[in-house]
Amino acid sequence: MSVSTAAVDPSLCAPLPVLGADVTVPLVTGGEVTYAALDYAASAPALRRVWDDVAAYAPYYGSVHRGAGYLSQLSTDLFESSRAAVAEFLGCREGDQVVFTRSTTDSLNLLAAVLPADCRVFVFETEHHASLLPWGDSRVTCLDAPRTPAQAVATLERALADREPYGPALVCVTGASNVTGELWPVRELAAAAHAHGARIVLDAAQLAPHHPVDIAELDVDWVAFSGHKLYAPFGSGVLAGRSDWLLEAEPYLAGGGASRSVTRRADGGVDVQWHTTAARHEAGSPNVIGVYAIASACRALTEAGFPALVARERALVDRVRAGLAEVPEVRVLSLFGDDAPRVGVISFVVDGWNSSHFAAALSAEYGIGVRDGLFCAHPLVRTLLGGEPREPGECGAPEAGPGEKSLNAIRVSFGAGTPDEHIDRFLGAVRELVGDGARWTYRTEDGRCVPDRGAAQV
Ligand SMILES: Cc1ncc(COP(=O)(O)O)c(C=O)c1O
Repeated sequence: MSVSTAAVDPSLCAPLPVLGADVTVPLVTGGEVTYAALDYAASAPALRRVWDDVAAYAPYYGSVHRGAGYLSQLSTDLFESSRAAVAEFLGCREGDQVVFTRSTTDSLNLLAAVLPADCRVFVFETEHHASLLPWGDSRVTCLDAPRTPAQAVATLERALADREPYGPALVCVTGASNVTGELWPVRELAAAAHAHGARIVLDAAQLAPHHPVDIAELDVDWVAFSGHKLYAPFGSGVLAGRSDWLLEAEPYLAGGGASRSVTRRADGGVDVQWHTTAARHEAGSPNVIGVYAIASACRALTEAGFPALVARERALVDRVRAGLAEVPEVRVLSLFGDDAPRVGVISFVVDGWNSSHFAAALSAEYGIGVRDGLFCAHPLVRTLLGGEPREPGECGAPEAGPGEKSLNAIRVSFGAGTPDEHIDRFLGAVRELVGDGARWTYRTEDGRCVPDRGAAQV
């Protein structure tokens, strides 16, 4: 997957306006600072454009697919035109369905619920738990973490060719890792899957906010993503792709909206005719605001242009990686190596520091929001850290002494709304914390590292 950015000068690309850019937060050392949201991989701030679109629509909000009134009809049109906008954003093929869900997790659980009974599922151990867990232990084959994209393809080919019995199979793969930000060879994996009679679903939770996703061009069977990572944090997600397994299966949820006709039989039972469109899996009152917000974000990103967004983000990624490389105590986690193309998601550990302590100090002393932990990708992070599972230590104590292995990592992530100043502040803070230490003391509370406000500070 690559985007041509040759014609773009990243220094001329401005961040897209997002909500929260002016929000100030208190520092434990005194004073306030604007919040540096560097946890986009968890949830990205709402695009200003998305918020404005939602606010403009909100007075016209009405029930979808059920009312005769003007606002119901308007809302139904808006809901269905949002489906068309998402299909266009994803480059859907004729006959593909766009099902609105709550999130990527929900989308993949929905797909798991419609798999043919004897379908085997192949996933790499490197997946986010949302891609690793929905399938059920008995049908999953979990593949070793590859160390190159080519090894990923070869590992998958071998596993698919060796499967016994040779029946239906699904491969679930991430487009961009939520730990390393590295891009996966999706097109090649899709070709391998299809060559072995398998299908493939792309977990685009971390890819879609940073990179164009074209379902036809990648030749994947399904794509899943979440609104809240795509600058549209209103509780909706998407599963898009081939209709057959979706429309042959029982509805994911049974209820109104999924059913076309329901009749009571003479023997006391109930006969149901389910819809044969995406509505089959959208029972219950839909989240029209969430769906409209996703469509608005799709339009906003398309209009801003992925070449410009990708060029600017690459420049930020290069700056962060170069800045971290200047601090010898920092080790950046990577599966595919330094040259691998990646999005704005970078995880690292700091020698002699407990990651929770480091993240707490970035927040309390610099107003920077990052994440620490295993990022819902426990097998991958443990593989990258090379550590066995054990209980983390107290936050004041270094988690990894010289020669020891870290238990947790720190993740910095950014995207279309990130100003240069957040990156500069982050790199300056890493240098200061590593060089001079924290200026405050911290303690563990409910498993988290927090500033000790009662302690006298030196
Ligand atoms: C790669 C990846 N897949 C799936 C998910 C799950 O997304 P959600 O929590 O929105 O369901 C995440 C969330 O962090 C993710 O990073």
